[in-house]
Amino acid sequence: MVILVKAIAIDGPAGAGKSTIARAVAQAMGYIYVDTGALYRAIGLGVCLLGLDPHNEKDVTDALDSITVTLRFVEGEQRVFLNGHDVSGEIRQPQISMAASQVASIGAVREFLFSLQKDMAKKNNVVMDGRDIGTVVLPQADVKIFLTASPEERAQRRYDELMLKGEKTTYEEVLADVKQRDYNDTHRDISPLRQAQDAILVDTTGITLEQSIQKVHDTAVQKLSTQTSC
Ligand code: CDP
Repeated sequence: MVILVKAIAIDGPAGAGKSTIARAVAQAMGYIYVDTGALYRAIGLGVCLLGLDPHNEKDVTDALDSITVTLRFVEGEQRVFLNGHDVSGEIRQPQISMAASQVASIGAVREFLFSLQKDMAKKNNVVMDGRDIGTVVLPQADVKIFLTASPEERAQRRYDELMLKGEKTTYEEVLADVKQRDYNDTHRDISPLRQAQDAILVDTTGITLEQSIQKVHDTAVQKLSTQTSC
């Protein structure tokens, strides 16, 4: 029996609101939300815990032999496990964001995570967010959205989030981090961040989170309704 599953790919730069919007849209549609950034963050964390430089391609590639990353869904929420330990909280630290962005430019890391991501979408209706979902991981996705906002607005959102968590940082530091990661993500040789040709651009600059969720949800529903089932 062929099981027909649907996939909504949401790509975009750091702080565009992908995870909050993707989670809300998945919940509204009864789909599973897969946050692929968490996988790169888990590798970044694993590499840091081993005391390795996340830039060092050879060391990071060798380290993959001793790293396992798994995703589990607990009450609909994604949890990410590194070598069997739930690291869903630890991977959100600012230094892990940068380590994730650095290991993400290494081909062996992207290959390592590729089938894990693909498998999730084989059996489930998914909303999957990341940088290369519509271009590389799920090029046949039913709906592709490229979500963006100005760097300043994205940095402000990320800064507010970090303040709520009690992290010590400044807006300037967060803006510099966002710009550096934008640069890394768009300039790497393998699977750079770019809008897929058939992706719909949603710019959330100056609109509220609720409006952004509505916009992405309505766009996805409309796109899915225009598809034939055979
Ligand atoms: O949430 P935020 O936008 O800060 O980042 P994330 O989605 O958690 O991803 C962390 C890092 O992983 C990004 O800066 C990317 O370098 C990398 N990443 C990637 O290369 N490809 C993906 N599909 C997802 C994330």
